[in-house]
Amino acid sequence: EKAGFDHFMLKEIHEQPKAYRDTMMSRITEDGKSVELKELGMTAEFIKSIRKVHIVACGTAYHAGLVGKTVIESLVRIPVETDVASEYRYRSPIITPDTLVIVVSQSGETADTLAALREAQRNGARVLAITNVVGSSIAREADHVLITWAGLEIAVASTKAYTSQLVAFYLFGLHLAGTIGAQEASFIEEVITSMKQLPEQVESILEQSAVLKQVAESISHHKHLFFIGRGVDYAVAQEGSLKLKEISYIHSEAYAAGELKHGTLALIEDGIPVIALVTQEELYEKTLSNIKEVKARGAHVLGIANAGTEEEVAKSVDELFAIPKTLPLLSPALSVVPLQLISYYASLALEHDVDKPRNLAKSVTVE
Ligand code: F6R
Repeated sequence: EKAGFDHFMLKEIHEQPKAYRDTMMSRITEDGKSVELKELGMTAEFIKSIRKVHIVACGTAYHAGLVGKTVIESLVRIPVETDVASEYRYRSPIITPDTLVIVVSQSGETADTLAALREAQRNGARVLAITNVVGSSIAREADHVLITWAGLEIAVASTKAYTSQLVAFYLFGLHLAGTIGAQEASFIEEVITSMKQLPEQVESILEQSAVLKQVAESISHHKHLFFIGRGVDYAVAQEGSLKLKEISYIHSEAYAAGELKHGTLALIEDGIPVIALVTQEELYEKTLSNIKEVKARGAHVLGIANAGTEEEVAKSVDELFAIPKTLPLLSPALSVVPLQLISYYASLALEHDVDKPRNLAKSVTVE
C-alpha cells in the first residue's frame, strides 16, 4: 500500500503533482482563462458583500492559512486575518455578517477548528471549509465547501494536504478576484498558466532528492536550527520548522528574517544551520542582508531561491537549492517541497518512526 516507498510520508510527498492536478484541473475553465467554483454555491452578490475574511485552522493547515492571507489580500485587496483555532475561539473575534470565515482542515474533524466554525456561525458569519474529507464534520456543518483532492493522507506529518490547501487558496482567491473584477483578466490568466506548471515543477524538485538527503544528514547532527524568510517565505519557513520538529525532534524556530536582530540573533553561533527562503524577488535584497547577519556570526546557510536569481543568492550562502521559476505568490507551492524532504530524511537519519512521530495523532478530536 506504500506503492514501493519506504514510508507513507515519502509516498505522499511524491503524490503532490497528482494532488495539484486533481485539486486544480476540474476548477479551471477549458480556455485556461478563469476559475469556476460552482460547487461552492456562493452567489456573486454574496461575494461582492464580503468585507473581511478570517482564516482559522490548526498546525499545518494554519500555515496554509498564512499563505492564504497573502493570496487573498494581494489578489482581492480585502483584509484577512489568520488565527490558530484554539486562540480564535476564545478571543471574542469581531465577526460580522459581512465577514467570511474560512476554516482549513485536512481531516475535517479537528475539535478546535470545528468549534471556531460554530462560533463564527453563531455570530452570523458564513463559513467556507477547505477540507480533504468529504462528509467530515467540518464539511457537513460549513455553509460552503471546497474539497482539496489530495486523496487519503496517512502519515501524521501533513504534506500533500498542505500543498493542496495552497492550491485551494489560489483557486478561491482567483475566483473572488474574477467575480469582483479585482484583477485584469490577463493577470488571472497568467496566474492560471503558472499554476498549471506546478505539477511538473514539483516533479523536477523531487528528482533532486539526493541533494536534500545530504543536507538532512548534516542537519541531523545538530540540536537547533533556524528557518528564516520574509512575506510568504516566512509562512513557508514556519511550516518547514514544524515539519522538522514533529518528525526529527530537532528543535527549530522559524523567524521573520527582519526580526532576527531584535533578539534571536543572540542564539546564532558557530556552525548553526540556517535555512533561508529567498524566493520573493522584491524582498530579496533585504533577506540577503539578513543572511549576511547570520553568516557573520558563523551560521551555515542553505538558501532556497528561484531559478534565475540563484547565482546571485549563491554568493551569499554556503549551499543553494534552486526551485523552478514561478510567480512570487505561487512559490510556496514549490519551496515547501525541499523542506518536506529535508524533514523526512532527517527523521530517517535519526531512525525515528517517520509516519508515526511520538506524542502525536493524525486527527485531533480533543481540545
Ligand atoms: C502537522 C499536522 C498537524 C495538522 C493539524 C490540523 O504535520 O499534520 O499540525 O495540520 O493537527 O489538522 P487538520 O488539518 O486535520 O485540521
